Amino acid sequence: MFYEPGKTTHNLPHDPFKACVAPRPIGWISTVDKAGRPNLAPYSFFNAVHGNPPMVMFSSGGSVDSLRNTRDTGEFVAAVAPKSMLREINFCSAPLPPGEDEFEYAGLEKLPATCVKPHLIKGVPIHMECEVFQIVELPSANPEKPCAMVIGTVVGLHIDDAIIRDGMVDITLFEPLARLGYQEYASISETFTVKREDFWK
Ligand SMILES: Cc1cc2nc3c(=O)[nH]c(=O)nc-3n(C[C@H](O)[C@H](O)[C@H](O)COP(=O)(O)O)c2cc1C
Repeated sequence: MFYEPGKTTHNLPHDPFKACVAPRPIGWISTVDKAGRPNLAPYSFFNAVHGNPPMVMFSSGGSVDSLRNTRDTGEFVAAVAPKSMLREINFCSAPLPPGEDEFEYAGLEKLPATCVKPHLIKGVPIHMECEVFQIVELPSANPEKPCAMVIGTVVGLHIDDAIIRDGMVDITLFEPLARLGYQEYASISETFTVKREDFWK
């Protein structure tokens, strides 16, 4: 099949695009508003975009609070969502009124960050404390719900020692949750090693 998004129809019951870019890790984005009130929401448009310095992005398709808070404060914390906390992650996608605390709603405990104001989440093994590097505006059908990609520089990285084995982060020890298309999810429980060829021999 072939279709031109926005021009021709895919003739499928659901938009297939997100199923074509999968799996996507889920960034559990913690922010505070100008008054310091916490906000927490999952974002599957989330990934690493640069290594040195380390940078990550999340992208809001009209979800308002995380974007507004990062614009206002220039900070966020990206927690890498583990499969074991799927229920809490789902709770945090509830459209609570601005200022209402998703940590409390989902029964999560806050921990203080080191370099930024937004909180860490007790029980999550990886957190990245971020300063906003750039916000890239994206097309939006509704001016009241602007869409944008937030790129952050990681200024502090917390890794639970329990998931480090032989000096390396062992992803199978915390099974990050990944989003597929539609309502589908996956997690990584098995990995394999591929050594690079020595092309210059
Ligand atoms: C697993 C999962 C992934 C999500 N990914 C995104 C995303 O990438 N972008 C987005 O705008 N909303 C996404 N959502 C929906 C938001 O989490 C939801 O709209 C939330 O209420 C936004 O909160 P906020 O307005 O406090 O930022 C996702 C929801 C779930 C459950």
